[in-house]
Amino acid sequence: MGSANAGSDQALLDALRGVVDPELGDNVVDLGMVRSARVEEGRAVVELALTVASCPLRSQLKADVEAAASRLAGVEAVEVRLGEMSAEERSALMARARWKASQSPLRTEIPARARVLALASGKGGVGKSSVTVNLATALAASGLTVGLLDADIWGFSVPRLLGLQGRLEAEGNRESWSIVPLEKPVGQGRLKVVSMGLLADQEDEAIMWRGLVLSRAVQHFLEDVAWGDLDYLLVDMPPGTGDIQMGLARMLPRTEMVIVTTPAAAAERVAARAADMARKGFLRVAGVIENMSSFTCEHGTEYRLFGTGGGVRLAAQVGAPLIGSVPLDPELASGGDSGRPVALRTERPVAKVFAEMARRLVTEVAPLVEMSGCTARMLERLEDALGPAAPPAAS
Ligand SMILES: Nc1ncnc2c1ncn2[C@@H]1O[C@H](COP(=O)(O)OP(=O)(O)O)[C@@H](O)[C@H]1O
Ligand SMILES: [Mg+2]
Repeated sequence: MGSANAGSDQALLDALRGVVDPELGDNVVDLGMVRSARVEEGRAVVELALTVASCPLRSQLKADVEAAASRLAGVEAVEVRLGEMSAEERSALMARARWKASQSPLRTEIPARARVLALASGKGGVGKSSVTVNLATALAASGLTVGLLDADIWGFSVPRLLGLQGRLEAEGNRESWSIVPLEKPVGQGRLKVVSMGLLADQEDEAIMWRGLVLSRAVQHFLEDVAWGDLDYLLVDMPPGTGDIQMGLARMLPRTEMVIVTTPAAAAERVAARAADMARKGFLRVAGVIENMSSFTCEHGTEYRLFGTGGGVRLAAQVGAPLIGSVPLDPELASGGDSGRPVALRTERPVAKVFAEMARRLVTEVAPLVEMSGCTARMLERLEDALGPAAPPAAS
């Protein structure tokens, strides 16, 4: 009995490494928050110690642990017992988090409280960039400050979709400089955009630039951009699950993935790939968006051109919510060409879909990290008081 359980206990622990505390940028296992994790007769029981009992991330961490555990083969029920860390456990955790932060090769200016969502898809042409741009626009329209990082280095499309003409500028001097994102006011909020397409005027020059920095372009964008304040950072990922994805997981472990799919896409294959990526990179899948879900003709009849249920199936398979289904709308394409995202055209039904997805993101799927009572604030105060982190004491 013992040996079979030992195997599944280990598998459970591995799965829990996919649960990242977004404030601390490390997974709950390595942070010492998992006191025990056992699988017995199809039932997973996880004891999770929170830094403080009233941690605002409480329900999110619990839901993430439940999702990660229930995805394991052979697990039918999950019980999460929440506890609170002792003072010693808490200081060990803070030491670990500070050490981890100091080890990170990246010093980004992405604020600790910003949630980073990478929109990814198995293949190109599913409308990922269109969805990302409109979702970012809808989030900004609701009064938030939203960064938009176009990580599709070769196939950048964000500037065109937003009708941005400007160029990115650098601030600072030769030794110490940073890139200033291009800002665009949207409703009560703001978009801050960084894209390869905003870097150089001449196409030739752009290609040369790309050749120089391609392999490290995303890292440059993460390290060298002065984002200022941000509520969300949305990353438009290149198609596929290549180096840039894994790099992002390594460089910015608190990144969460949103998978964009079409009803036609073989949900099983996309799910398998996404789950595989999540495992390798320990990225959490925050949700699924189905695009091109249906078409409504001028007579009001709805056609499901690409089949039904793909988004729901994929969401169930990766254990994440379906954030929304975006219908086909020719204005979505022309909105892109005229640089006025359809999310702003409130007379279009599809604009309501984006507004509703933005609302769900903020309220349920990836709520803003409260800075009042929890760990990020503690960490910042510690950094201020103690200076650079020392390695954690051997435990
Ligand atoms: N919901 C939609 N309705 C109509 N056209 C769409 C929709 N989503 C995307 N498109 C169109 O599909 C094409 C591919 O979209 P794009 O966002 O560039 O995809 P990706 O970034 O996945 O390659 C574009 O011409 C775009 O305008
Ligand atoms: Mg694209």
